[in-house]
Amino acid sequence: MNTKFYKNCDASELTEAAEILKNGGLVAIPTETVYGLAANAYNGKAVSKVFEAKGRPTDNPMIVHISKLEEIHPLVTDFPEKAKALAEAYWPGPLTMILPKSDLVPREVAPRLETVAVRMPSHPIARKIIELAGVPLAAPSANSSGSPSPTTAQHVLNDLDGKIDAIVDGGECDVGIESTVITLATDVPRLLRPGGITLQQLEAVLGHVDVDPAVLSELKEGVAPASPGMKYKHYSPKAEVYIVEGSLESFKFLIDSEYRDGDMALCFNGEETDIPVTCLSFGDENDLDSQAHLLFAQLRKFDELGAKRVFVRAPSNEGVGLGVYNRLLRAAAFKVIKPPVIYGLTGQTGAGKSTVGEILSEKGYLIVDGDVAARAVVEKGSPVLKELSDTFGSDILDENGELIRAALAKKAFSTEENRQKLNSITHPAVTKWAIDFVKENLNESHKGVIVDAAAIFDSDIKRYCSKMIVVTAPEEERLARILSRDGLTEEAAMLRIKAQKDEQYYKERADILVRNYAPYNLSQELELL
Ligand code: TXA
Ligand code: MG
Repeated sequence: MNTKFYKNCDASELTEAAEILKNGGLVAIPTETVYGLAANAYNGKAVSKVFEAKGRPTDNPMIVHISKLEEIHPLVTDFPEKAKALAEAYWPGPLTMILPKSDLVPREVAPRLETVAVRMPSHPIARKIIELAGVPLAAPSANSSGSPSPTTAQHVLNDLDGKIDAIVDGGECDVGIESTVITLATDVPRLLRPGGITLQQLEAVLGHVDVDPAVLSELKEGVAPASPGMKYKHYSPKAEVYIVEGSLESFKFLIDSEYRDGDMALCFNGEETDIPVTCLSFGDENDLDSQAHLLFAQLRKFDELGAKRVFVRAPSNEGVGLGVYNRLLRAAAFKVIKPPVIYGLTGQTGAGKSTVGEILSEKGYLIVDGDVAARAVVEKGSPVLKELSDTFGSDILDENGELIRAALAKKAFSTEENRQKLNSITHPAVTKWAIDFVKENLNESHKGVIVDAAAIFDSDIKRYCSKMIVVTAPEEERLARILSRDGLTEEAAMLRIKAQKDEQYYKERADILVRNYAPYNLSQELELL
């Protein structure tokens, strides 16, 4: 079949499209939510062609679209007050109501059900076509069953070219996810599918609305869903999708530690440059409308880019976000990952960083010891040590091939350029060591990860730390601690103190400041961790 493509949307094109529908054909039409694949709702034969074109399971009922309120009466046996109030508030718009079905609705529209789904779209082209066709239109989303719903005419063309009579190009859909579906056929109204009209908006009109468990959780084997569409894996690009809860820093840790060829990410605006795989953004972190608007288009783009796995920054599930989260859960087949929360722990020498590390370890954090990491990567025979001796000279090694730290320090800290060379050799190895350590040692019982490192603000690892814990103490106290602990002369101890950045530097970079001196007490200082 040759699929006609109407892109002017003038009166003659829309009349032609309506004519096709009247004659039992299939036309993809724009709505404010997503594109719909429309058929005359009173023509069972036309409706069954929709299932065929989409490859849709035939038990999945369709929404009937009307353009005027009076068109609802022949479709339903009851139009209760609650439904009237909702129609008054939110029609035309992205809201679908499930109501008791009249016998005029052919069984193909809602196979084996006593109910019918009705919606009055707000998109002017959709409304015009319904009007011109003179009949309500049954229309599911105009995608191949299982793939993300189409939000542009091009998406429809990609999925259904040659399988339907025509496509009307009305530009990008505004909302971007399908309508909110609520049933009024139960005693308490129940939200079956979240969308552009939010739960709060529904409750503002109706009072309490139940939320169907299938909105946010996987249906148990054998349980019949209130909305048949909910049982199918949906909205999926070809790649495996994973929702990743938590901070951007934890997200980066996950990407780096699990990296495989073909990994890509769906993130918020501005995060792309910081995530080392191909990233698409679906809007600002707080812009839930944009996330809804872009979600499906971006999921489709991952297919074009050949993604094998897509890691998604978890959006908020408030307001319209509930709809976005619901679609993502299905795209991900409910795979949600919670990478560990990671904090950096640092402080000037003698401040008591190690003591704090011990307390946090007792509290259930996995401690990554930066000193141990730094030593491990330059063990005798290691590739890092080889590179260091190639760069700085073999006289940094003793006769057994072990590193002479003082010799390396002398050379590496002689110029800024050398210091950078040293860092570029050691930092990636330390980071990798830390990642491997976490992968090997982290278990369910851990609250999170603490990276204990004096030079954390200069490290690569800081990109994984969502907060920095800085331990402080006055200089005289730190001096006294070093003297009694390390058996240095006062002069040597002061040299060590002065070699570090000053207190101001640490304090400016602290998210959590831990005061390790009287009258403060550490357990109180660490209470919130
Ligand atoms: O925004 C939308 O709703 C778009 C545009 C085209 O209007 N349409 C759409 O249709 O998303 P579709 O078929 O992809 O999704 C309709 C959902 C399915 O989950 C279906 O199971 C549910 O509504 N549904 C339809 N009739 C129902 C009924 N009588 N009882 C319970 N659920 C029903
Ligand atoms: Mg659909």
